[in-house]
Amino acid sequence: MPKLIVVTREGEEREIDGEAGLSVMEVIRDAGIDEILALCGGCCSCATCHVHVDPEFAAKLPPMSEDENDLLDSSSDRNENSRLSCQIDFTDALDGLRVTVAAED
Ligand code: FES
Repeated sequence: MPKLIVVTREGEEREIDGEAGLSVMEVIRDAGIDEILALCGGCCSCATCHVHVDPEFAAKLPPMSEDENDLLDSSSDRNENSRLSCQIDFTDALDGLRVTVAAED
């Protein structure tokens, strides 16, 4: 199982065995990390699954859609590593991916 490392808003680091085929948001949510609200359930319309992704993995991530880009623009904590975690499929290629939960808007 690929591993996902999640850094919470308090700076606590959690290592999760993630199920490939789920989204990164689902892996985080299923691990009981409730900082990711994922209010829209993953259909790219709420931005409450915002994370900052380790830049080392940037090239392995799926490209950002226009909708994701627009939604991220509504966040005050957006930076160049921002992604919506529901839009990233967790795969074996992302083993060791490190994401930090973005600040709440
Ligand atoms: S869960 Fe709503 S945009 Fe990702």
